[in-house]
Amino acid sequence: MRSNPWFETVAEAQRRAKKYLPSTVYGALVAGSERGRTLDDNTGAFAELGFAPRVVGHHAERDLSTTVLGVPSALPVVISPTGVQAVHPDGEVAVARAAANRGVIMGLSSFAAKPVEEVTGANPNVFYQMYWSGTREAMAQRMERARTAGAKALIATLDWSFSHGRDWGSPTIPETIDLRTAVRFAPNVLPHPRWLWAFIRSGRIPDLTTPNLQPPGGKAPTFFGAYGEWMQTAPPTWDDIEWMRTEWGGPFLLKGVTRVDDALRAVDAGVSAISVSNHGGNNLDTTPATIRLLPAIADAVGDDIEVLLDGGIRRGGDVAKALALGARAVLVGRAYLWGLAANGQAGVENVLDILRGGLDSAVLGLGHSSARDLSPDDLVVPDGFTRVAGAPRAAGTAGR
Ligand SMILES: Cc1cc2nc3c(=O)[nH]c(=O)nc-3n(C[C@H](O)[C@H](O)[C@H](O)COP(=O)(O)O)c2cc1C
Repeated sequence: MRSNPWFETVAEAQRRAKKYLPSTVYGALVAGSERGRTLDDNTGAFAELGFAPRVVGHHAERDLSTTVLGVPSALPVVISPTGVQAVHPDGEVAVARAAANRGVIMGLSSFAAKPVEEVTGANPNVFYQMYWSGTREAMAQRMERARTAGAKALIATLDWSFSHGRDWGSPTIPETIDLRTAVRFAPNVLPHPRWLWAFIRSGRIPDLTTPNLQPPGGKAPTFFGAYGEWMQTAPPTWDDIEWMRTEWGGPFLLKGVTRVDDALRAVDAGVSAISVSNHGGNNLDTTPATIRLLPAIADAVGDDIEVLLDGGIRRGGDVAKALALGARAVLVGRAYLWGLAANGQAGVENVLDILRGGLDSAVLGLGHSSARDLSPDDLVVPDGFTRVAGAPRAAGTAGR
């Protein structure tokens, strides 16, 4: 008898993903860099924060909705862009449908396996994500394509420094999948018949190409081809970011900010929003958890731009904590990837329902009628919890 496909926590979705996915695919989703200190801190820091619930004065009805960059969302949760190559045959289209069904905005990676046109067809509220990669002409063409497809905002991700080595080992990922690679990877794949069957049934094999980076009249580069182009592109200056923002001409989210001075510089560059992010622990290891860095950044930029956070969100309570400390909304990465692996589109919907339920419980228990009313007063923040990076320090406080 097949077990109940519904799961009650993101932790259970992860357990199922580990079971169903070939270890190479699962390992690519765990990701993280070096010793994994940031990866662990992103989730661990949320557990250090306590709630301060009230006993009387609860509200029978609670509003969890918000807007992000002017786009309405049923929840203060956005799908974070990830290249979900090989997790599920329907990939980002399944994620987009799930997000649309739950009234949530979909962030689509330019490294994704599905074309932006198919994704905006499944969810009208798509934010398109790009790295600083390739020539300005190529970037302008990719932006034009996303705009024509109906993307409502651009996410520029800058927090990546090609720091690879993982103490627990990086999975081997093939450049393309042909008969030879299939035979080579068979011992890894055959013990995971459900995953294999899903692809066989769909008539597709994971092709590991990046259709959104396909030049007009050319071929879509492979994932590694795209990665190579990115590595060889000279890193952007603030002037380049201003160019990108102007070229896009619409709402612009800068993802990857961890320092107060960068956040203020981003305001000057005219961005509409930032996400406090360390790329889910995939940039420089030992960068503090984003939830520790959020309060100082939110404080510094005030209402000038929208401040989002991503990294370590696994529960609705984590969403509530991020909102209480100054985020307008959060982006989630691995949580929905575990759901997608565990049960396709329904698994992503399941994860969004878990986040909704947990957030709603927190708003109820904390005595609010709206998630927008969450504040630091709702939390017990232990001494020394927060971290401040890139802010001018008063004399004699260096290192604190
Ligand atoms: C497997 C994987 C692939 C990712 N790919 C991208 C990407 O293509 N573009 C991007 O901006 N961020 C990417 N990220 C980072 C996520 O958007 C997000 O910042 C991070 O996953 C948040 O942390 P969380 O997974 O703990 O929620 C990726 C993360 C993972 C785990």
